[in-house]
Amino acid sequence: MDRRRIVMGNWKMNKTPGEAVELVSQLKDGINTDKLDVVVCVPFVSLADVGRLIKDTNIKLGAQNMHFETSGAYTGEISGLMLKELGVEYVIIGHSERRQYFNETDQTVNKKIHKALEYGINPIMCCGETLVQREAGVTMEKIRMQVKRGLQGLTPRQATKIVVAYEPIWAIGTGRHATANQAERVCAGIRCVLSEIFDEPTAAKMRIVYGGSVTGNSAKTLFDMDNIDGGLVGGASLKADFENIVNC
Ligand code: 13P
Repeated sequence: MDRRRIVMGNWKMNKTPGEAVELVSQLKDGINTDKLDVVVCVPFVSLADVGRLIKDTNIKLGAQNMHFETSGAYTGEISGLMLKELGVEYVIIGHSERRQYFNETDQTVNKKIHKALEYGINPIMCCGETLVQREAGVTMEKIRMQVKRGLQGLTPRQATKIVVAYEPIWAIGTGRHATANQAERVCAGIRCVLSEIFDEPTAAKMRIVYGGSVTGNSAKTLFDMDNIDGGLVGGASLKADFENIVNC
């Protein structure tokens, strides 16, 4: 199956707008986007500036969250409509940090995914197990639940717009990435769950990526696996190493 690879940077709460412009200006010359999609998910306050900078490149603009309503009395929130106007093409939904610190649940993830699709924004839905869950042997149970609940009510056609990011919580920001075999096993499992929810051809079209301490050194072995179609990169996306990850 010919799935176009995708590498996404998740900057999290890093870089001021000025610093963001500086970093993207450097990145855009060193990155080759002929063979894959490259997305930078920057803080909300930098979306407009970064969007202008990458307008004539193939680098795509991503956000890190959005609200599930279009507008209204939700102080401090940002809607898909606002993101769309800024040229946002991808949005991370349900990152483990949002689940942990901001009460994101599978239900809100599901509502946000539906809303993002309504605006033609591609959701990057995150899932992943804790170390305790991995050691208890319930990794796939956890992931199955997150994926099934998160993607509830979507048509197969909508599903193909979604990128599923497998991000084991124990690997995020720890410098300890999953081995290629560990990551491949879960990503293959996710593809099985997707074919249960939708159908096999749809599952075969959907992109599944790995995230968690990906660096220029580990990217190639991870991305070479059959069911890993790229990566969601945190820390290393803030440095020149992001170019090595993309170009590998
Ligand atoms: P790190 O690459 O810093 O481990 O972060 C991964 C991540 O959470 C990307 O969303």
